[in-house]
Amino acid sequence: MQVTVDGTAVQVSDGATVLEAAKRAGSWVPTLCFDERQAPFGACRACMVAVDGSAKPVPACTTLCREGMVIDTTDPTARRVATAVVELVLSELPSAPAPHTELAAVAAKLGVEGPRWPGATHPVAHDLRHPYLAFEHELCISCGRCVRACDEVQGTFALTAVGRGFEANVAAGIGSGFLESACVSCGACADTCPTDAITERLLLDGGNNGGPPPDAPRLRRRLSTN
Ligand code: SF4
Ligand code: FES
Repeated sequence: MQVTVDGTAVQVSDGATVLEAAKRAGSWVPTLCFDERQAPFGACRACMVAVDGSAKPVPACTTLCREGMVIDTTDPTARRVATAVVELVLSELPSAPAPHTELAAVAAKLGVEGPRWPGATHPVAHDLRHPYLAFEHELCISCGRCVRACDEVQGTFALTAVGRGFEANVAAGIGSGFLESACVSCGACADTCPTDAITERLLLDGGNNGGPPPDAPRLRRRLSTN
């Protein structure tokens, strides 16, 4: 079928999402809970766009295309919603996301320089018991990507989404941490995490073929204090 994204006509297959159409047209849509290796989840609401016939912006990652659909990824209302989502997420973190993370990149591209509603932030809580994986719970934005990576990609089911609202987070095992969970240390959770809440400790320790990631010193400092 044919749809139009930001004035560009593109062909998409039946069942394609608006996000897929936008990518095909070369348009950028902010995403946080989306990972193309996983089934769409629709949790973060960062990917809002306008489509003809809809009074409100719709999430691009879970909305299916229909023949002749006209999509506007730069609609001011949709961008306002996306920006507010990112500002709210940042407001709950005790420190800014590391510059190389997906969250930092999305915030920068939306022009978000920091939290708009400073207030309560997640308490610092580190699980450093596993030899390969570090979990800094305060950086979790509850996007669910690690849980789905563990379930859908790895088939291990070691992670669980816990809590609601501000308290929402992720637990390994039955709250016992990675080390005592069913985790097989595949690293799929760390690979998909958009905030580095879950990180491979080898990377933090400079084991990345001798080359630490850009902000490893900051993270190493945090680890060494626990
Ligand atoms: S740990 Fe990372 S991937 Fe998992 S829910 Fe939190 S932010 Fe998302
Ligand atoms: S990326 Fe679409 S709702 Fe999160």
